[in-house]
Amino acid sequence: MIVDERITAYINSLSSELPPYLSNLEKEAHREEVPIIKKETQSLLQFLIAMRKPAHILEVGTAVGFSALFMSECMPENCDITTVEKVEMRLVKARVNLKSTKQADKIRLIEGDALDVLKELADKESERYDFIFMDAAKAQYMNYLPEVLKLLTVGGLLVTDNVLQDGTVAQSRYGITRRDRTIHTRMREYLYTLTHSDLLKTTILSVGDGVTLSIKE
Ligand SMILES: C[S@@+](CC[C@H](N)C(=O)[O-])C[C@H]1O[C@@H](n2cnc3c(N)ncnc32)[C@H](O)[C@@H]1O
Repeated sequence: MIVDERITAYINSLSSELPPYLSNLEKEAHREEVPIIKKETQSLLQFLIAMRKPAHILEVGTAVGFSALFMSECMPENCDITTVEKVEMRLVKARVNLKSTKQADKIRLIEGDALDVLKELADKESERYDFIFMDAAKAQYMNYLPEVLKLLTVGGLLVTDNVLQDGTVAQSRYGITRRDRTIHTRMREYLYTLTHSDLLKTTILSVGDGVTLSIKE
């Protein structure tokens, strides 16, 4: 946790309640150790969607469908969501969860490796998104970025989760375990690219495990 635990608990105590089916899914994900968006990130996404009123949302990293369903609860009437996942164990649950909602016809689950799927989507003129939520394999974000930039409309918002890796990204590489060094290096490269790109205006927030907001200019 990047922000003091007590402050986070207090802020979260003020967040609005989830509909029962989402609250159950959240509890189930926690029980089964499926990494889903934290309360703080939920609140941020809800705010951003209300502010931006997107028409087409792309999510990279569905897991069991929690965040896609969460976004479907707060998106505008005419909005749709495309979400990408490749791990079968997660897909088994995502297929069921995403079908069993009143918004099912507005959520498209694409099964496959994110990089392949992003490339395929980027080749189609009809596949453009004004809100992209990146929440998949952290070490791959740099590889996803060129495709994501093609898929994002001018003025569109790219939200990337877990960019501070529980704060370890801010540490010297000598202060972290050898196992975490690759992800540390790649995430730093990703953050540097986002904050120094001529195409993007980016801010880094210490919400949850760290979130970046990038607008395509
Ligand atoms: C943090 S979880 C996503 C959580 C989800 N957004 C939520 O909050 O409910 C990341 C997901 O990305 C998936 N993932 C990892 N690498 C991937 C890849 N190369 N292609 C597609 N999905 C991938 C993982 O299987 C995992 O389910």
